[in-house]
Amino acid sequence: MPWRYVYCDVGYAANRRQVWTPVRSKPKDDQAISSSLPIGVFDSGVGGLTVLRALLDQLPGEDFVYLGDTARLPYGTKSPASIRQYSLQAARLLHERGVKCLVVACNTASAIALDALAHEFDPVPVIGVLEPGAAAACQATRAGRIAVLATESTVRGGAYQAAITRRRPDAIVTARACPLFVALAEEGWTDGPIVEGVIHRYLDEIFVADVAAARPDTLVLGCTHFPVLAPVLRDVLGPDVAIVDSAATTAVALADALTRRGVLRHDRAAGTVTLLATDGPERFARVGAVFLGRPLAPADVEIVDLAFAQAPSRA
Ligand code: DGL
Repeated sequence: MPWRYVYCDVGYAANRRQVWTPVRSKPKDDQAISSSLPIGVFDSGVGGLTVLRALLDQLPGEDFVYLGDTARLPYGTKSPASIRQYSLQAARLLHERGVKCLVVACNTASAIALDALAHEFDPVPVIGVLEPGAAAACQATRAGRIAVLATESTVRGGAYQAAITRRRPDAIVTARACPLFVALAEEGWTDGPIVEGVIHRYLDEIFVADVAAARPDTLVLGCTHFPVLAPVLRDVLGPDVAIVDSAATTAVALADALTRRGVLRHDRAAGTVTLLATDGPERFARVGAVFLGRPLAPADVEIVDLAFAQAPSRA
């Protein structure tokens, strides 16, 4: 039987304290992947609702369980070890609830933790947003000059750059961390002079090149939050730059994966959406409504604790 840790009271009177204690637990039967199970989607917070929105458009008959790890947002400034640990815990909770597929909506988690997730949850398919985003960029670019905007950890890890040059070895990829974009999007500031000023500060170096031919012709929105800034980015950069995000291509990759395994739902027009978060249902509902593009109430959001989520049993 596998071991797991629980937080327990030990000691007596003045010596009483709480410690993590290993306990043995009965293994759960390995979940069979069946078409009636929901699709698990997780992100560091509410930004991944931009991805959920595209998944709902593409696969309206499926049930979705979305988890936003709002207590630990942002992931994009954390170390790879923390990002991996947080991602595994989030995915474990979804897996415990029973899912037929895991979608890693967070670009940072996709860049840093995808291999660890795929290894732990095999045979459940794990789909990240980074490879579909790289594919969309390579399809959109004319001259192979691509700029990627993402979080610090995604840029530092180099996974987008590698995924693009693997598909298109002659591509010239410039990656730029834009952490303030996350804050602007969360604040609902999606246009106006302050937002434009921040865009100029981050992007002028890349896009205001002396030689027009050296400018990127494609911009990848390599972070869950950035799609809500797409209209203002379009205004600042003009019509010549293709702006791509990974949400729509991830939805296609998900549909492919479900079809290949024979677990795509065909039997109904509309499924359900369950929303989970690790903190702040009010903020989740207020900010999340902008990202999902539909009204949300705090009562729609269930608060969960990831501390006790268990790795799947291999027993
Ligand atoms: N979800 C993250 C991403 O797509 C952005 C927010 C964060 O840093 O956690 O990279």
